[in-house]
Amino acid sequence: MNDIFLRACRGEKVEYTPVWLMRQAGRYLPQYQAVRANIDFLALCKTPELAAEVTIQPVDILGVDAAILFSDILIPVEAMGMQLVFSDKDGPVFSEPIRNKSAVDRLIIPDAEVDMPFILESIKILREKLKNKVPLIGFSGAPFTLATYMIEGGGSRHFLQTKKMMFQNKRLFDYLMEKLTATLILYLSAQVKAGAQALQIFDTWAGMLSPIDYKNFALPYVKKIIYELKREGLPIIYFVNNCAGILHEVKKSGADIVGIDWRIDIADAIKKLGKKVVVQGNLDPCALFLSEEDIEERVKDILWKGEVARGHVFNLGHGVLPETPVKNVIALVKAVHRLSHI
Ligand code: CP3
Repeated sequence: MNDIFLRACRGEKVEYTPVWLMRQAGRYLPQYQAVRANIDFLALCKTPELAAEVTIQPVDILGVDAAILFSDILIPVEAMGMQLVFSDKDGPVFSEPIRNKSAVDRLIIPDAEVDMPFILESIKILREKLKNKVPLIGFSGAPFTLATYMIEGGGSRHFLQTKKMMFQNKRLFDYLMEKLTATLILYLSAQVKAGAQALQIFDTWAGMLSPIDYKNFALPYVKKIIYELKREGLPIIYFVNNCAGILHEVKKSGADIVGIDWRIDIADAIKKLGKKVVVQGNLDPCALFLSEEDIEERVKDILWKGEVARGHVFNLGHGVLPETPVKNVIALVKAVHRLSHI
């Protein structure tokens, strides 16, 4: 198996910089669209053979150094008892958002084996199918990011309902976050037991908080998850979107690898994160709409700056966008491998 991704995560010297891409499986790939034409998104997540198939597609098509389980961060939230719908227009929608204590009372802390068996089955199938290929990354959302969807009822611009709960009813917010934290510890542990070889925690919306609010309302919970999962001994990646203003706090999360978005220069991020963490990132997903030569220039810059970190895993600063030309994504992966080869 190509284990260069795992070795880079551990901060070992590697022969080239490994690369995988957030949202590497998805609508920009015709092969994904072909599968998706016959099944809706949530059903696809819950059908292990198909979820495994679309997980492996980018490994074969792009030549990336890791696979990430095909699922969604909101799957465990649905298992907690909230009704989830993915609409083509609005993305995820919870029709009954969390606004009071009785709504939190009703949430269960799911047992992955019972409530999300399809996830564990997908992982088992994938480990077998990826045996001679690349490692498998399991994942979850971070408590704060999941809480925003639960409280807002879907995507949001200002996160006003979430912040109102934080500021006006800290006890209720904490009650919800504790339930999420307990859920995610069990959920990620179950993924490890089923065979996940690294974990990524996605904090897509943490960057919407001021540094002090991030420190008080988001960091403690994710820190607890990372602490509990550490004993499993596998690499834990913490991706924080819009991280520039809060990196000094993110550094305290305990994650081995910190994933960063593109709005910060990777050299600045490394300076702020220090010598103990491996950094993952951080090409602007829109850079994949540049010419191949221009993509190479940006790759060179990131690779060169990434060299001073304890380790570097190449990635985008957020997910691959639906209209992205596949040939440019293939060119990106090739460029990372070629330009970093020692
Ligand atoms: O990265 C991968 O290839 C693995 C699969 C994966 C998906 N979602 C598949 C998906 C992962 C790791 C996620 C994480 C996820 N989901 C996040 C965190 C990362 C990020 O992008 O910020 C968030 C916030 C979600 C919630 C979510 N899921 C939204 C807001 C949407 C709709 C908008 C969009 O980007 O499509 C989804 C749908 C979704 N999740 C799709 C895929 C492939 C598109 C579904 C389709 O086929 O129509």
